[in-house]
Amino acid sequence: MERTYLMVKPDGVQRGLVGQIISRFEQRGYKIVGLKMMQISRETAEKHYGEHAGKPFFNDLVNFITSGPVVAMVVEGKDVVSTAREMMGATNPLKAAPGTIRATYGVDVGRNIIHGSDSLESANREIAIFFRPEELVDYERAI
Ligand code: CMP
Repeated sequence: MERTYLMVKPDGVQRGLVGQIISRFEQRGYKIVGLKMMQISRETAEKHYGEHAGKPFFNDLVNFITSGPVVAMVVEGKDVVSTAREMMGATNPLKAAPGTIRATYGVDVGRNIIHGSDSLESANREIAIFFRPEELVDYERAI
């Protein structure tokens, strides 16, 4: 079964949106198999966002993602990588489709509430950065 890495960013945590965001994935039928609140180190942030190194927004991105706690999640289910991206909406909340997470809660590309892996390959890489194998659980969920 497919897994993806999702992360409620510091703005989502500070604004008290964690429960509502998790609810969307639970209600859709997706299963949470890993979940933790954490403060990311600069080193981990630079690794996670390595593909953006050198871009003009990279420093702001790392500063922001390390500025407060995040909620890191591994979510499992059918086509979850692409479906979670659809549920999140476009990276820029101003361009996100109505009803998506980013359109519902945000207006700023830097403070866009949530991160989600953009491919299965990224998901596997990102899950390994934030979770040890033993932190992921296996259980049955009735859809
Ligand atoms: P995320 O999906 O976490 O992946 C990279 C992040 O860079 C993206 O969400 C945005 O929050 C952030 N970012 C900041 N500025 C920009 C920008 N100008 N273009 C794209 N992404 C940006």
